[in-house]
Amino acid sequence: MARNKRIKFLAELTVGYDCVLDIGTDHGLVLLEALKKGYIKSAIASDLREEPLNQAKKNLKNYDVDFIISDGFEQINLPYDLTIIAGMGAYLITDIMAKAKQDCTYILQANDKHHVLREFLSKQGFIIEDEFVIHDKFYYVIMIVKKGKMILLEDDLYLGPKLKYKPEAKHYYQHKIKQYEKILSKADDKRKEELIKLIKIYKMQ
Ligand SMILES: C[S@@+](CC[C@H](N)C(=O)[O-])C[C@H]1O[C@@H](n2cnc3c(N)ncnc32)[C@H](O)[C@@H]1O
Repeated sequence: MARNKRIKFLAELTVGYDCVLDIGTDHGLVLLEALKKGYIKSAIASDLREEPLNQAKKNLKNYDVDFIISDGFEQINLPYDLTIIAGMGAYLITDIMAKAKQDCTYILQANDKHHVLREFLSKQGFIIEDEFVIHDKFYYVIMIVKKGKMILLEDDLYLGPKLKYKPEAKHYYQHKIKQYEKILSKADDKRKEELIKLIKIYKMQ
């Protein structure tokens, strides 16, 4: 199934960690894949809403998982060494990350506005250790993040400080250029200026 590629990719990134906290777990599909494959032994499945978490409980009933209703990290007091926050908008992820509690590794996958997330991370004392892009009907950008210091230039915000060195990013950048070129003729002058700047940045790679 096409959409499984993203789930599988995220699950594979959990290899080597002991306990994974999945914030906004929804039906717990990433954790299910990671636990089923034996990548991890235990997990904390958390969501803002009871309904998806009940579905996650059903899906993960055979595994060592704690289920917690929580707005981001708020109600999470158990130990974990990896946090996944995936499938949400960049602004929501920044709101959640602003209240990160324990020192751990983070896997972040924002659905949009990756430059917003990268800028936030650099200002909040996080470092992007690695980045990936996968194509699974849509393009998904995935970041591996830790506490640390990084300075990002404008092109880093858009291209990604690690992603820009990856050959597989080329297709993604081409896709962004096409998207922007498509809407260029209908944009007002201010937006046109912005789009031209973005096209130039994506053409740099
Ligand atoms: C689109 S789903 C993503 C599911 C899964 N993480 C994935 O990548 O497939 C977003 C989930 O985040 C949850 N959510 C939204 N805001 C949240 C918050 N502040 N704290 C925890 N969960 C949140 C929603 O209830 C929903 O289940």
